[in-house]
Amino acid sequence: MEVTIFEHKAKPRLSDMVHFNFLRKKSFGIDLGNNNTLVSDGQKLLVAQPSCIVLDKVRDTVRAVGADAYDMFEKTHHDLKHVKPLRGGVIADYSSATKMIAGMIQKACGNKSFLDRYENIITGVPYNTTNVERRALKATFEQFNAANVHLVFEPIAAAIGMDLDIAQPEGHMVVDIGGGITEIAVISLSGIACFQSLKVSGDAMDEEIQHYFRRTYNMAIGLRTAEQVKVNVGSVLEESKTTRSMIVRGKDLLRGIPVTRQTDNREIAAVLEKSVSAIELGIVQTLEKCPPELAGDIYNSGIYLTGGNAMLNGLKERFERKFHLPIHIDDNCLTSVSKGLAKAVANPKKYKPVLVD
Ligand SMILES: Nc1ncnc2c1ncn2[C@@H]1O[C@H](COP(=O)(O)OP(=O)(O)OP(=O)(O)O)[C@@H](O)[C@H]1O
Ligand SMILES: [Mg+2]
Repeated sequence: MEVTIFEHKAKPRLSDMVHFNFLRKKSFGIDLGNNNTLVSDGQKLLVAQPSCIVLDKVRDTVRAVGADAYDMFEKTHHDLKHVKPLRGGVIADYSSATKMIAGMIQKACGNKSFLDRYENIITGVPYNTTNVERRALKATFEQFNAANVHLVFEPIAAAIGMDLDIAQPEGHMVVDIGGGITEIAVISLSGIACFQSLKVSGDAMDEEIQHYFRRTYNMAIGLRTAEQVKVNVGSVLEESKTTRSMIVRGKDLLRGIPVTRQTDNREIAAVLEKSVSAIELGIVQTLEKCPPELAGDIYNSGIYLTGGNAMLNGLKERFERKFHLPIHIDDNCLTSVSKGLAKAVANPKKYKPVLVD
């Protein structure tokens, strides 16, 4: 497969490459997610690609970024290293993250923009990050020669992206079930009044599916296959009347040969039960902590779900039954945070109260 990607030495110093201050200034919103990175300007989404990178250890270069790197996941040889630079919603590998962001920005605006300076870079950050983690995230983006780098808490960005009027004295509950972290927040007056974050999220569900096949059928499957199983036949309703099935490919652990096995939505619903129950418990605990006036607002407005895993089959039905509240799932779960950041990029004055320094 042909991989068209810039090649540069490891440990790039982007600021060293950007000398031309007279060039056009751009502003970006960057949702640096555990699984997906989305880059937008004030108007439109420019890039949405998996948050991963493949490094060539021998040549000390970047081999692929984003979708191309995702295609190589679990298929690399010894000279190549596949890295997901974020874990649990925060950067775990700063060097790889910097190279990945550089690649994403290049994809967003073409090679020439490497010479550009940037006006504002606004990026999302999980709420339960420490000051040190936030400073490190800011420093990572400051390398890109931006005049200003601002952070916005991701549940707030998601709420803005879902067109909720968060500036009012009114409670809105947002649940973002992402790839590395689930964030549950009650937002009022442009701030977070109650919050809980859980490690239970998309990656944890994929691992549950992987372990299940190993335990139950002595069958090893890759994480990418586990994710496909979740996306294609994943469900949160064990008693579902309809059946959706798929063939799963993997390796028999006893005989060492490639095998296939059929699975369906009911079987996977049982596997995901533990994760979904943990998210439900997190929502209950957050509602318990919520002051009564805000709880009253949520009684009327309900719960707003976003993040890729909010698309799990049956989630709306299950949560309506469990919480007796209106459940809204964003039509574009994967882009809510990015849309919110894009709005802040377009109008930084209006969204100043939500920018974290
Ligand atoms: N149709 C679908 N059904 C269920 N899950 C899905 C679907 N499509 C994507 N996902 C899951 O959504 C997750 C990615 O969602 P998202 O892009 O919101 O996460 P992220 O922003 O990268 O992560 P985080 O917010 O934790 O940093 C992955 O776990 C993926 O498997
Ligand atoms: Mg996210």
